[in-house]
Amino acid sequence: MFKIVKKRDLADVSKLMEVEAPLVARKAQPGQFIILRIHENGERIPLTIADSDKEKGTITIIFQEVGKTTKELGALEEGDSLRDFVGPLGQAMELPTSGRVIAVGGGVGIAPIYPKVKAFHQAGMEVISIIGARTADLLILEDEMRAVSKELHICTDDGTKGHHGFVSDILQGMLDDKSQKIDEIIAVGPLPMMRVVANQTKPYGIKTVVSLNPIMVDGTGMCGCCRVSVGGETKFTCVDGPVFDAHQVDFEELTRRGQMYLPEEKEALDKYKEECGCGGGNSEIG
Ligand code: FAD
Ligand code: FES
Ligand code: MG
Repeated sequence: MFKIVKKRDLADVSKLMEVEAPLVARKAQPGQFIILRIHENGERIPLTIADSDKEKGTITIIFQEVGKTTKELGALEEGDSLRDFVGPLGQAMELPTSGRVIAVGGGVGIAPIYPKVKAFHQAGMEVISIIGARTADLLILEDEMRAVSKELHICTDDGTKGHHGFVSDILQGMLDDKSQKIDEIIAVGPLPMMRVVANQTKPYGIKTVVSLNPIMVDGTGMCGCCRVSVGGETKFTCVDGPVFDAHQVDFEELTRRGQMYLPEEKEALDKYKEECGCGGGNSEIG
């Protein structure tokens, strides 16, 4: 069992948890993730390792409540325990030690991009971050992102905070500004956002990577659930990724596969809300 030693609400539907998992903490590297199961009958869900502390033997996860399992996880408190907490999984991120990187995080991608931005910053890179969400209430980790970025730009679709519009609007301005060299761009968020960024940066020939979030089951390359075509080759996101060259990813196929279980996900969430009588929340983050 893996004890939750700390819990913090970041926003209405976003939570941070520190979980006791010494063996995972000993090996965790930036870019990797864990797969957890709340209880014996729970489903397995992947979450990025937001932070790790070898001394304390803890792993920090940050998640948005988007469906049944993340809502159930968000209802747990300090002192409660998780049934399984497997990791670290996936490849560690490549970390250049100098240069200028632009990090683009949208909606559910803000939680997983934060540890990557922090790692770039600690490695000595200059990071310009752009984060966006549908509305101001869904923006998370603003202070944390500002602390590890040279500049932080904020966007909301409805104009409730920062630039009224999309992260890609701000990115376009930076791509057109020839006075500032960009060495790398990293984008994490909903598939349509990552796809737009990939198409946007391709003509400029700037290295662009995305951290993909397909549905995962085992997380060890056995089930094939997380497969993705990259440069015409089949890759498994859980063992070969989750970070890939954005210009090589087949977003069309990934989008189709990501929508396969929408009716079942909705059914599971409705049933959970009925059983716990908790309703409410925002299940359409992104
Ligand atoms: P559901 O209603 O079941 O699903 C909502 C949506 O979540 C689905 O449409 C699908 O896109 C996705 N999803 C559902 N089940 C899975 C699954 N088994 N594996 C992957 N995606 C799934 N979210 C965060 O908030 N913070 C993170 O740090 C984070 N890191 C991730 C790292 C990786 C490598 C991956 C693959 C995903 C990550 N996610 C992260 C997404 C997170 O796993 C999903 O939000 C979660 O599984 C949703 O489960 P649910 O039952 O609450 O929602
Ligand atoms: Fe099963 Fe990646 S999750 S192969
Ligand atoms: Mg689910």
